[in-house]
Amino acid sequence: MDNRPIGVFDSGVGGLTVVKQIVKLLPEESLVYFGDTARVPYGSKSKETIVKFSKQIIRFLKTKNVKAVVIACNTVSSNCYEDLSEEFPDLPITEVVTPGVESCIAATRNKIVGLIGTYGTVSSGAYERRLKAADPEIKVYKKACPLFVPLAEEGWANNEVARLTAGIYLKELMDKNVDSIILGCTHYPILKKCIGNIVGENVTIVDPAKATAMKLKKYLEENNMLNAGDKEAQRLFYVSDRSHFEQICSRVLHEDHTVEKIDIEKY
Ligand code: DGL
Repeated sequence: MDNRPIGVFDSGVGGLTVVKQIVKLLPEESLVYFGDTARVPYGSKSKETIVKFSKQIIRFLKTKNVKAVVIACNTVSSNCYEDLSEEFPDLPITEVVTPGVESCIAATRNKIVGLIGTYGTVSSGAYERRLKAADPEIKVYKKACPLFVPLAEEGWANNEVARLTAGIYLKELMDKNVDSIILGCTHYPILKKCIGNIVGENVTIVDPAKATAMKLKKYLEENNMLNAGDKEAQRLFYVSDRSHFEQICSRVLHEDHTVEKIDIEKY
């Protein structure tokens, strides 16, 4: 048993979609969340910059005595997982790409799949490599949708601008006859309704968040690291700058939280 909290991070509000699934599956676990609202988006930044930011964040989370870390960001997961595991060898780190790949393999019937994500995720080739390793017959069509991130950060989840943007981005993939689309960015589930309206009900929307929470649970169970459940779970939220974080947090988690701003550059 291990009553320490789990650290979760993302460039901003996106990782809350992963927190939502963790809370559902592991309600007795305490969490410390960090959203890098001062430096979002990560998707257009270089690998070196994202590695540097992620190391600072994990150092901060370690000051909160976390027992494990979840990278609730596809851009970081697909570009920096190895660097971070090497830098923090004693900390169990869960990423979101592998669970996303597994969910997609389970979902597709025609083996033609779409991947949407940030420039960083799409250009890393991480999803494609792992999908093809799991099933060499799979065809992957990719599309970077960078404007979904500021739309989610602004809380514009399904208004006219969001619908227009989704229509333009997704047309190309729909023309390829994909039967499933991976939401390869944790911000995108915030726009899931809008995306769903464009792709229609015959396309399965794959959100890696649930499978990520399941992977985390399995790891904690197998390593006897679950919370004993004798104290109420605490969920703490930190950001690097002012934003609409609190409002979006209540919308995604259906819980109100106060959010503390910290200087991430110190770590
Ligand atoms: N939510 C993140 C992801 O999953 C990052 C988006 C961004 O900051 O560009 O990729």
